[in-house]
Amino acid sequence: MTERGNFMTNLASKLKRLYIETVGCQMNVLDSEMVVASLRRQGYDLATSVAEADTILFNTCSVREHAEEKVYNQLARLKMLKAEHPEKIIGVMGCMAQKDQQLVFDRAPYVDLVVGPGQLHRIAELLEKIQQGEGQQMAVSLGRRDGTQEDIRRSHETFDPLRDPSMRPTPFQAYLRIQIGCDKFCTYCIVPMTRGPEQGRSPKDIVQEAHELARQGCKEITLLGQTVNSYRYKDGDKETRLADLLEQIHEIDGIQRIKFVTSYPKDMTRHLLETVRDLPKCSPYLHVPAQSGSDEVLKRMKRGYTVADYYEMYERIEEILPNAAVSSDFIVGFCGETDEDFQQTVQLVKRCRFKNSFIFQYSVRPGTKGAELYADDVPAEVKQRRNVELLAVQNEICQEDNLRFLGQRVEVLVEGPSKMSLKRGEEGPLRQMTGRTHCDRIVVWDGNERQAGQLMSVLIHDVSSHTMFGSVETVELSNQPLVMPVLKN
Ligand code: SAH
Ligand code: SF4
Ligand code: F3S
Repeated sequence: MTERGNFMTNLASKLKRLYIETVGCQMNVLDSEMVVASLRRQGYDLATSVAEADTILFNTCSVREHAEEKVYNQLARLKMLKAEHPEKIIGVMGCMAQKDQQLVFDRAPYVDLVVGPGQLHRIAELLEKIQQGEGQQMAVSLGRRDGTQEDIRRSHETFDPLRDPSMRPTPFQAYLRIQIGCDKFCTYCIVPMTRGPEQGRSPKDIVQEAHELARQGCKEITLLGQTVNSYRYKDGDKETRLADLLEQIHEIDGIQRIKFVTSYPKDMTRHLLETVRDLPKCSPYLHVPAQSGSDEVLKRMKRGYTVADYYEMYERIEEILPNAAVSSDFIVGFCGETDEDFQQTVQLVKRCRFKNSFIFQYSVRPGTKGAELYADDVPAEVKQRRNVELLAVQNEICQEDNLRFLGQRVEVLVEGPSKMSLKRGEEGPLRQMTGRTHCDRIVVWDGNERQAGQLMSVLIHDVSSHTMFGSVETVELSNQPLVMPVLKN
């Protein structure tokens, strides 16, 4: 064993401190929760900075170039630290690990570990090997053409072993994965390559995990999948769809709200919408990205629907769930997008009046069909201008539509102190609190930290485009004995 190996073995007997940083989508947030839960079992504890950690993990995203460059820059900043403290382990996990593989080691040779999202179950064992002095470790899944369908599928394993409430944004809200991967192959998107083939988890595992979450005190579950409403699981002749899962999870005591993201427009069936309507715990909130309002662009994106199809789906939502909030994603400046194409996107936003839209400038992703077939020909400044214009249109809609809530009471699941409260450094129980309505709108009010986790009625008296401001008039005493004990002394 090398000198470094000996040193590492001695270190392994001590308490291990883990620092983890997560970027990307909800899938990554959930993966980080799982990794922390599994490493806690191996004797790790969480550190709040790289300085006090002996294991540093970056959970990465490849959806846009910018997200990757930020991680490489962060890694570059750790070069000195690693030179001074060679015993510190640096790991890259997530989509960029799967996409870049050996390139991560080439660009940052002092990285010890590269592990893709389909191989996270191996992370504890790989860290152990590094501690034993076995050198750099890499575990990634097969590429989409690197084996039989079955081998490729098996190399992308869902990692949902343990739940850790302390790693969630709040202990009473949790993500629950129902599907991994994606088979839609939109031409701009890297996800089918990093996350592998679409696979539904078994309904038995999903419902069991929902029970476990309820036992942990979780009140709101958000079901996750890249195209969550395409979920299907076949067991012999029996096929389970998302609507069936919603019905089963709805039965669980303690669970009060159920959401699901992200939906694919083509699979937003009448039956699913009616199920959401008929199950009161299901949030009247749907995230159904349109991506563009131009048929030409949608065709090049290979989204599988036309603008007319999207409108038809939207009308179905309006008919069955007239009070639902719908949100969307858009990519501006995709290859060949003309001003006219873009104006059609503006029209779509104006017509659908989304609750909110996430707007992204197209970023070429090597390895996608888009990168292979089309030139990235919309100049950066045009992408930027379209981004700003579309955002302004959406913000105006948000502001106008939020005005409808003035003077109304909304039911809010209280999440905790607001960002503003944290920024202001407010201390003590009385603070500005934040929560969300059933239709996913953000509400803040002057409240009390003990309200966290409760469902409460808030009266709205002011709104901005993204936040509603309210007040709580009743005194909430839950978790408190109604008759205060007599204090001695
Ligand atoms: N599965 C989800 C979204 C996955 S990625 C869906 O199908 O809607 C999240 C969002 O990132 C996408 O909706 C898209 O708007 C955006 N996105 C994906 N690839 C991109 C790229 N190459 N450049 C810019 N934005 C991209
Ligand atoms: Fe990407 Fe399209 Fe799959 Fe969404 S549906 S993850 S955008 S390929
Ligand atoms: Fe990013 Fe991977 Fe999610 S590429 S958006 S972290 S699935």
